[in-house]
Amino acid sequence: MPHAFEDRIAAYTERLEQKLDEALPLASTPPARLHEAMRYAVQGGGKRVRPLLVYATGECLGLDLSLLDAPAVAIELIHAFSLVHDDLPAMDDDDLRRGKPTVHKAYDEATAILAADALQPLAFSVLARVDGVSAAVRTRLVQLIANACGSTGMTGGQAIDLSAEGRTLSVADLEHMYALKTGALIHASVVAASLLQENLPQRDAAALDNFARAIGIAFQIKDDILDVEGETDVIGKPAGSDVAANKATYPALLGIEASRARCDELLRGALAQLECFGNRATPLDWLARYIVERGH
Ligand code: IPE
Ligand code: IPE
Ligand code: MG
Ligand code: MG
Ligand code: MG
Repeated sequence: MPHAFEDRIAAYTERLEQKLDEALPLASTPPARLHEAMRYAVQGGGKRVRPLLVYATGECLGLDLSLLDAPAVAIELIHAFSLVHDDLPAMDDDDLRRGKPTVHKAYDEATAILAADALQPLAFSVLARVDGVSAAVRTRLVQLIANACGSTGMTGGQAIDLSAEGRTLSVADLEHMYALKTGALIHASVVAASLLQENLPQRDAAALDNFARAIGIAFQIKDDILDVEGETDVIGKPAGSDVAANKATYPALLGIEASRARCDELLRGALAQLECFGNRATPLDWLARYIVERGH
């Protein structure tokens, strides 16, 4: 069973944790409180779905693992920064994340803002050091991830999310918001690996691109379903937070059944895109199903 990805998840996660540890400044390095908070935000929790997507796409394309570490680490650092800001009182105002007090609760608001501020450039510093690729590919990788993180990606989606509180969006606007706030980084995780395969046929690149867009939106719909149906202890963040904040979500707009149906439809569409890769896409197939079926 060369493609039993599930069996390799522990190894990938261990590898990623090691690389994250190496990338982060030591907690004892001054300013120590800032560095401690950065480590607190990144380490000790998280499903690591985005890095796993980088590794799984890399497997699908026959890439060397050592090429994938930098984008995997960079994207997880950006994701961690986005969570710290997302939980701040000025944003979602949540006190629990990955089963622990949020960074602004464990430290203080200013430290949380600064820790997130520092995680973002750290991600780009890691990316700039990726070796074994041409300067042109390195530049495209930096651009891809910068765009996914910026005002037309995750940050833009977060702005739309906040301005949509208490409003009713159309389904198209809601999915656009999901594509930005959550989809952009998930999409970049897959496309980063496909950029690293310089000989990739256009057809295969397009299939991966479509796959990634679909699972990115499905990921956020599932997150919203878990906010309604999940239990705080299991999801590691406050259940019912979206209703409390009057968020515009799929379940709020269309109900749980329609949300589930849309997730399944997106999953089917995503899996269909993988057909051209045959068995090599088994890890991606597994992760796509996990995104829709996960319990936390
Ligand atoms: C939560 O992401 C925030 C969203 C974009 C929905 P994850 O569900 O990937 O959070 P962790 O990293 O596993 O904690
Ligand atoms: C996540 O949306 C958006 C981010 C880009 C972090 P949510 O606000 O629903 O994420 P959770 O539920 O707090 O993890
Ligand atoms: Mg939010
Ligand atoms: Mg939130
Ligand atoms: Mg949520």
